[in-house]
Amino acid sequence: MKNCISVILSLVFIGLVLPAAAEDLPQIGDVTHGTQLYRMNCTVCHGFNGSGSGPVRGSLQIQPADHGDGALMNARDNSMLFATIQSGGSAQGKHKAMPGFSGTLDGLDTWDLVAYMRSLHLPLTAFFERVDQYLVKAYDLGQIGNKDFKAGQMERLKKAIKKVDPRDLHLTVFTLFKADERRASPELVPQEPRRLAQLQKKDKLGYVFFLDLIGPRGKRIPVGVSLDMNYTMTKLVTTGGAPAVAGELNTRLAKYVGMGKRGDVVNFKISKDKVGKLFDTAVARIYALAIEGANVYELEERERSWADNTF
Ligand code: HEC
Repeated sequence: MKNCISVILSLVFIGLVLPAAAEDLPQIGDVTHGTQLYRMNCTVCHGFNGSGSGPVRGSLQIQPADHGDGALMNARDNSMLFATIQSGGSAQGKHKAMPGFSGTLDGLDTWDLVAYMRSLHLPLTAFFERVDQYLVKAYDLGQIGNKDFKAGQMERLKKAIKKVDPRDLHLTVFTLFKADERRASPELVPQEPRRLAQLQKKDKLGYVFFLDLIGPRGKRIPVGVSLDMNYTMTKLVTTGGAPAVAGELNTRLAKYVGMGKRGDVVNFKISKDKVGKLFDTAVARIYALAIEGANVYELEERERSWADNTF
């Protein structure tokens, strides 16, 4: 009996000291508290605003990523960020220069940090509020599919964009799904045949891309764009820059939302003035790249699902 009690007591004790599992906790953190924790624990390496330019940057064996980069940070879901902060880089297949904080920060603190990190870039929920699951994959346009598909893709791109810059052909496609059961935060579905086969076409919401808009004098401005299943733009916003500048830019970009559809020739003509025309061309370029990214994803999707009835 005595033994039994001590077993129970030690189980309770272990339960108290072990870091809480990610899924047991509310996944909506407090950004304000997360900001304070980040400044205290993370800024030395990750920089004041998470851009990766902390004071000890030079002495790190590997540079931390820019936490403001949407393409990069959305390629990790909240539970991955949570696990990296708690157990450190090496336990998560990342570099050991990223220390684990399970000894100093509890589960709630860690969710607050995740919430702060998500506030540094545009999260996928900013494009489709109801996203439960998503896929992420990087593609090289013009390199995938059979000869005809590749040639057709490059032809369409050349028609829409006079000068195709090779670095723009490498892009990351986020494909978003809802699920029957609402998720606390979007789950990144790994590229495993079994998991991919479980995704239903009826649940697909659309696509998200993080691309560069070519501004005046060739300046590259990071933007996020989403397409629905009809390839219509549902959101187009800049992801960088000072708030005042970003605000003005976003007002312009918002005019293109609702435009574009499947099979449509990409040609936006909403402005007559010189600057406006520059925007028309720049947005047409973004749109052309985005729909070709979605086309490549859909090609792969057809190829993997022709044998079953998932799609
Ligand atoms: C001693 C320096 C150092 C400190 C302190 C540190 N990090 Fe890191 N962190 C790194 C490095 C270096 C990487 C990159 C590891 C890699 O890419 O393999 C990293 C990676 C990460 C990642 C994975 C995503 C990415 O950026 O590649 C997350 C999430 C992260 N850190 C969060 C935090 C948080 C939150 C804190 C504070 C609680 C923190 N880090 C404190 C050095 C540090």
